Amino acid sequence: MNQGKLIVVEGADNVGRSLHCELLSERLGAHGIATKRIGLSRSKLMGETMKSRSGDIHVMDTRTRSLMYATDLMDQIIHEIEPLLAAGFVVIADRYTLTPIIREKIRGGNTRWIEGLYNQAPKPDLTIVLHAGGRRLLNRIIHSNDLASLNGFEAGMDLNISPSVTKSFLEYQKLLKAAFAEYAEEKEMPIISTKQSVKDVHKEIWSHVKPIVKDVLQVFK
Ligand SMILES: Nc1ncnc2c1ncn2[C@@H]1O[C@H](COP(=O)(O)OP(=O)(O)OP(=O)(O)O)[C@@H](O)[C@H]1O
Ligand SMILES: [Mg+2]
Repeated sequence: MNQGKLIVVEGADNVGRSLHCELLSERLGAHGIATKRIGLSRSKLMGETMKSRSGDIHVMDTRTRSLMYATDLMDQIIHEIEPLLAAGFVVIADRYTLTPIIREKIRGGNTRWIEGLYNQAPKPDLTIVLHAGGRRLLNRIIHSNDLASLNGFEAGMDLNISPSVTKSFLEYQKLLKAAFAEYAEEKEMPIISTKQSVKDVHKEIWSHVKPIVKDVLQVFK
């Protein structure tokens, strides 16, 4: 039986996942709870290749790309997530199965088949979906001076929505938002708006995490 917990933070690019995973990890650490952060394309088996060849991955078909993401995650599950959960860690995942499923759903992938690739993946104790509107996300990208991060795939240019990167980005974000909302509603996952201050978003995240990690503290009492 797992003594640890698996907490997933999902949401679009630049929505604030890294920031909030870090804040959550520090807060849990302050309570004496051991945490480990994981995410997509970070496995020993596939991580390097997937990061350095991301351009190639984006031109693959949905099945091939789905297989790569599922292999990457399963490698982390077998070698890191399962042993850490067994050892009582709180594993904080900056994206898990939802993003690879939703991205491909939007591109016409066979959702049931892709979901099937993750049948063996441990079920999260909590999945939080962070949300921000497309214009807000675009503003964050512009202000971070990292317009290059608005690459073709991140703006959904492969969907041929519009020749304009910004227009395509905004339309693509609407599709992502709708898909995240549909999943979140179906699986009763909290959706937290990052329109609020970082402090308030963290407070809301903590209100969902606290009741879950109480068990972890109990185990050692
Ligand atoms: N609630 C918020 N209010 C204002 N700015 C925010 C908020 N949350 C995050 N940010 C800012 O948005 C930017 C993106 O945050 P972060 O890098 O955590 O996002 P991410 O979801 O991990 O993005 P990526 O997809 O690039 O990994 C950062 O500059 C961060 O400080
Ligand atoms: Mg990040």
